[in-house]
Amino acid sequence: MNLKIVKDTNPRIHQPSQEVTMPLSQEDRQTILSMMDYLKETQDPAFREKYPAVREGVGLAAPQIGVYKRMLVIYYETDPETHEAVEHALVNPKIVANSLKKCYLEAGEGCLSVDGSHPGYAYRDFKVTVKAFDAIKNEDVLIHARGFDAIVLQHEIDHLSGVFFYDRIDKKDPYKKLPGAVAI
Ligand code: CO
Repeated sequence: MNLKIVKDTNPRIHQPSQEVTMPLSQEDRQTILSMMDYLKETQDPAFREKYPAVREGVGLAAPQIGVYKRMLVIYYETDPETHEAVEHALVNPKIVANSLKKCYLEAGEGCLSVDGSHPGYAYRDFKVTVKAFDAIKNEDVLIHARGFDAIVLQHEIDHLSGVFFYDRIDKKDPYKKLPGAVAI
């Protein structure tokens, strides 16, 4: 299924999203499951060939499909042989602990809602602990993430506050070096 992605040219996506009412309604469950289906499809070359406007992603937040609720999905394989993957379908995620140590993606972050180019380093916490309800596992989860995993979680959680990766890039000095920050 193809979904229409809200781009950052839409002012609404820069505003915060609402807390999801628990227990999860059937409608919200359907929404987050279709987000996960879509995200996995963006990683399929045949799907992208069929829909050339679709870009490959590792995460998607509900506001990016025009649903302004605090839900997000993350999916990427960590081992192409065993197909081991990081997979989260999070409702009302909250960062409950973080490291003071920072990290950043050396190649810069990307986003399905951003077509423009925003070079520079978006500094993130190297380690985060996230508390949420996982709609696939169907239980409360506590996720301990570091490095790339932590960056993806923070990028998606930021969407729920209307914050984009480029909001975290220093406008005057985009490649500013932060002492002690880890390049990923
Ligand atoms: Co994004």
